[in-house]
Amino acid sequence: MIRKSVTAKIGIAIMGLISVVLVVQYLALGQLLKNAFYGQATEELLVQGQQYAQMSASGGYMMMQMLCTTANTSLVMLNTKGNVITASPSLHLGTQSAADKETLQAALHGKSQMHSGYSGLFTQRGLMVAVPMKQASDITGAVVLFRPQTIIQTGFQQQEWLLVLAGIGAILMALGLTVVLSKRIAEPLKQMAGATRELGKGNFKMRLPVVGEDEVANLGESINELAENLHRLETTRKEFLADISHELRTPMSYIRGYSQVLEEGLTQSPEETQKYLHIINEESKRLETLVNDLFVLAQADAGMLTVDKQSTQLENIVQQVVERMQKKAEDKQIQIQLEIPALPPVHVDPLRMEQVLINLMDNAIRYSPAGGQIMVRSQTDGQGVEILISDTGIGIPKEDLPRIWDRLYRVEKSRSRASGGTGIGLAIVKQIVERHGGHVTAESVEGKGTTMRFWIPLESEPGMTE
Ligand SMILES: Nc1ncnc2c1ncn2[C@@H]1O[C@H](COP(=O)(O)OP(=O)(O)O)[C@@H](O)[C@H]1O
Ligand SMILES: [Mg+2]
Repeated sequence: MIRKSVTAKIGIAIMGLISVVLVVQYLALGQLLKNAFYGQATEELLVQGQQYAQMSASGGYMMMQMLCTTANTSLVMLNTKGNVITASPSLHLGTQSAADKETLQAALHGKSQMHSGYSGLFTQRGLMVAVPMKQASDITGAVVLFRPQTIIQTGFQQQEWLLVLAGIGAILMALGLTVVLSKRIAEPLKQMAGATRELGKGNFKMRLPVVGEDEVANLGESINELAENLHRLETTRKEFLADISHELRTPMSYIRGYSQVLEEGLTQSPEETQKYLHIINEESKRLETLVNDLFVLAQADAGMLTVDKQSTQLENIVQQVVERMQKKAEDKQIQIQLEIPALPPVHVDPLRMEQVLINLMDNAIRYSPAGGQIMVRSQTDGQGVEILISDTGIGIPKEDLPRIWDRLYRVEKSRSRASGGTGIGLAIVKQIVERHGGHVTAESVEGKGTTMRFWIPLESEPGMTE
């Protein structure tokens, strides 16, 4: 459980770090404090010792003993032979240890000396200071002051307690920090895990609360975007399926209905029979185109839209397509004007290019009222060739313009059904052109006309094939 929790990991890391810091600090500061306290005590005892050494000439031992007792210090005065002149009352003196002797000898030779550690003379551990007593320039003995270790330590033990308290404070703050960090990191992460699980189950409506602008917030935002995109895809897919079923069902119901009438011999005249057969034929063609178009789109989706590229003169293909569409245009009294000079060759699949041009020309004719004009032109820049198809048709409303490339999208469903469209043509155009490394754009003014243009890059290296 602990291993699985980010909070616990962060918490343990912070605690570990703080513990290490605290231990190091405790050891270092403890040593510093100890040195400081011993240093101060040494200083104090030395000053005291020197004062007593001066006072000793005029006696006043009682006074010194009293002062020493209040300062938790033991006092011993020795003459040059090492005999005790005076000592603190109730002081039990032991035998001098080697260190004691050394210290005393130094004082009797005129040099103040200190020793920290066990003292045999005072029978315990502590700080001992020996100061020479002088009369004129003669050494008359030594003042020995001793303060037990226990007394010195009580001072810095109190300070040590402060250190421990500070340590406890730091650990509490670390705990607080862990809680805060866990709220800022672990909690959102937990929510994200839950959210992505929801996404996996297909609930694309969920959204994460995003607070702030840090990495965690960014991740949350990305997940929200992902959810939104998935939601949009899901909706498009559902719409697409519904549209396809509708598109397929309509012609099929015509075919079924009229063939049934024919089968049952319910027609009144040969003309009527002919009319029904014509409808059946038309609707079958419609079905065929629809299924073929869908097949191309499915191929493109699966990344299997094959293009068989070869060096091609686009103007030749434009010419062929215009000839093929001529009849359809004449039926609507639409004039087609062709203004295409010889173009540099491009590396394309001629059949696919033909498909693109048929779709665009078909739209130009389909969405222009009788008596209109279509102009086909070209432009070349250093990088590619552009074909422009302008019509004087009904145009496309601005708000629909970005969506005409979507599959099955038609500006106005009823209008398109009457004109026989399925809304797949431009989706195929876009797929094919982009598959060739080009791009398509549409400009339109509602009621005035539309210009569709597609751009194909020039053959990069002569003779290069894919
Ligand atoms: N030249 C044009 N003039 C006006 N509207 C157009 C033109 N080309 C395309 N459109 C609009 O874009 C929609 C999508 O075109 P397309 O994908 O070819 O489908 P459709 O099968 O309806 O022709 C059409 O339904 C039509 O509303
Ligand atoms: Mg079309």
